[in-house]
Amino acid sequence: MTHFYTQLEHALRETNPTRKCKQTLALYQQYQTGSLKIVNDSPVHDIQIAGRPARPELVPATAVDKRKTSTAEGYAAMLHAIAHIEFNAINLALDAVYRFRTLPAPFAENWLQVAKEECEHFALMRARLNAHGYDYGDFTAHAHLWDMAYKTAYDPLLRMALVPRVLEARGLDVTPAIRAKVAQRGDDETCAVLDIIYRDEVGHVRFGNHWYQHLCRERNLDPQELFRRLLRRYDMFIFRGHVNLEAREQAGFSAFELAMLEHFEASLKV
Ligand SMILES: [Fe+2]
Repeated sequence: MTHFYTQLEHALRETNPTRKCKQTLALYQQYQTGSLKIVNDSPVHDIQIAGRPARPELVPATAVDKRKTSTAEGYAAMLHAIAHIEFNAINLALDAVYRFRTLPAPFAENWLQVAKEECEHFALMRARLNAHGYDYGDFTAHAHLWDMAYKTAYDPLLRMALVPRVLEARGLDVTPAIRAKVAQRGDDETCAVLDIIYRDEVGHVRFGNHWYQHLCRERNLDPQELFRRLLRRYDMFIFRGHVNLEAREQAGFSAFELAMLEHFEASLKV
């Protein structure tokens, strides 16, 4: 009998995106049908770098290929950047399930579902990239998302606070503008993919908020005060530009936090 965490570790370490997605979907389905149970039967290895293909070449965030989206190549580079985020999101979700084993079972269920949905997003976005004559790996990319995953690897509370609630929630802020750009180009198929991603991401951020609240309650910490302190401590300049308050509200941010985000945003404009 193959064990849950052994299979999960395989998927996390897998470098080929197609195989990683196949293994993740198989894991999800086996769990759903009850043929695979989550039993903590193998040690947690400190996986510092999740499996990723040799390409895209990883470069500092400031050096990532950025061209005018009005050109065919620039447009493809934008699709590539989204595909790269989705690929990293698969690893982030798998890593949360793999690493944080002391939480109640719904935690693993939630993030396994996220991993499965991120696989779908990646496949859909890669197909759009292919439709425009490019593939995943054809442009450079940055390692920011995974770096944040590893920086928060020692504590699920930190991970929930800073990855789904900060980095993924940022996706909710920027997606409407990207969608408008895509729609202007008449690329309806990519618009449809962005709609699926956006809908699912609200759910992922909601999971993040749920588990952040859960862990704060468990440790008797004030979630709002802690969030404020963490943002300062990690010096996260995440609120540049538009904050999508409506989507964030749907994703479970409290009224207090939304007001804080708005204020944060305003303070940057001064
Ligand atoms: Fe996604």
